[in-house]
Amino acid sequence: MSDKSEIVIVSNRLPVHRVDREGRSGWETSPGGLVSAMTPILRDRPSTWIGWAGATDWSPDPFIHEGIRNYPVPLTADDIANFYEGFSNSTLWPLYHDAIRTPSYHRHWWRPYQEVNERFAAIAAEVAAPNGIVWIHDYHFQLVPAMLRVLRPDLRIGFFLHIPFPPQELFAQMPWRRQVLEGLLGADVVGFQTKMGAQNFSRLCRKYTDAIGARDLDYQGRHVTVQAFPISIDYARYESLARDPAVRQRAEVLRAQLGEGRRIVLGVDRMDYTKGIDIRIKAYGELLRSKRTTLRDTVFVQVAVPSRERVDEYQTLRDDVERLVGGINGSYGELGMTPIHYLHRSLPAEELVGLYLLADVMVVTPFRDGMNLVAKEYVATRIEDDGVLLLSEFTGSAHELKSAMLVNPHDVDGLTNRLYAALTMSPTEQARRMKRLRRTVKENTVYDWANSFFEALAA
Ligand code: F6P
Repeated sequence: MSDKSEIVIVSNRLPVHRVDREGRSGWETSPGGLVSAMTPILRDRPSTWIGWAGATDWSPDPFIHEGIRNYPVPLTADDIANFYEGFSNSTLWPLYHDAIRTPSYHRHWWRPYQEVNERFAAIAAEVAAPNGIVWIHDYHFQLVPAMLRVLRPDLRIGFFLHIPFPPQELFAQMPWRRQVLEGLLGADVVGFQTKMGAQNFSRLCRKYTDAIGARDLDYQGRHVTVQAFPISIDYARYESLARDPAVRQRAEVLRAQLGEGRRIVLGVDRMDYTKGIDIRIKAYGELLRSKRTTLRDTVFVQVAVPSRERVDEYQTLRDDVERLVGGINGSYGELGMTPIHYLHRSLPAEELVGLYLLADVMVVTPFRDGMNLVAKEYVATRIEDDGVLLLSEFTGSAHELKSAMLVNPHDVDGLTNRLYAALTMSPTEQARRMKRLRRTVKENTVYDWANSFFEALAA
């Protein structure tokens, strides 16, 4: 394989993770749509994926795994504290999610953010073939496009933001707003999850930079395409897992454990304060308190995957969620029967699909979410056209999944009423909605998403 790559992907994490089994360690491909969408494209041509290998004490040399060259970039413990936990996840993350937690602005985080972006840009410049394509992912690397353009003006550079892009009123808070916009304007294509994100970006660029144009922009003599590319899932994979006899058998075991005859309400999220885990638990508690449902009728299963556990706000959220769950189980549970089953861990895809198959109601209630793929995964597994998706209006998915039961997660009474309506929805109405939802997800898979971004970049 040539050491120069026609396609280069830049993302915070590599598409692989280290596993240690029986004293032997090696790499395994990480789960997730982005990785599966890229794999067929990257395998066909000389390509490199640049990212962090996940540890601060060592970083291996570039290596090939399943046909893709991985280029690990070392990040020190200070980088993680300032670039990742600091600027990325305590400044940008809350700011871009409607400031539902107060963003912190620290100059001692901004400099490391610039430095790490410079490091990634330098490696991309080194490995990309002449006139190659570099596709940069997410909020960690908003300065890379412009840095890379200075080093390698011959490249086609794409940037995709996986999280929301905020409106002017919020973005304007950031002391480094102009630098971030100019960083992104270094790309030929800047992609967002929704039209709203794309509009926010164009409007902000017109206000704070020299860019002009309505949606697409002209900047420093170049054309910058600004467009929505809603990300999706590998639909066929989820549908086939839903038909897999082993998964269905596992679902039956779980059903027996949760109690035959009880309707199942399910939430699956990273443990993140954007996801509205607390509010949906409160709504379920309200239904029990008002006796609109009982312990015998329903059971709530919440899977919360540990995430960013060294960031204070995430620790507080976990404490809050666990207190809420404990309170409700204490008040309404009986010996041998609890209203809420709470798992703070990640589950393999087969187990998750087993739970999707059982869920009469899937609750997805983020206060703000770039897309939310759990909603799409649930839909893809509902091969019998039943079940209800209760979906926050403030997710990117809600722009596509219009036949879901939409909710405002800030309105706890509204959410409680909608949860009750979902639990009592007729099979005919469930089927009417679910058929449409499944068609929508099937028509735009993660492969369509990746192909349309590459097409825009090649244009
Ligand atoms: O949705 C944004 C995102 O950064 C994803 O790309 C990632 O899979 C997820 O959040 C988890 O984040 P982290 O890499 O910080 O654990």
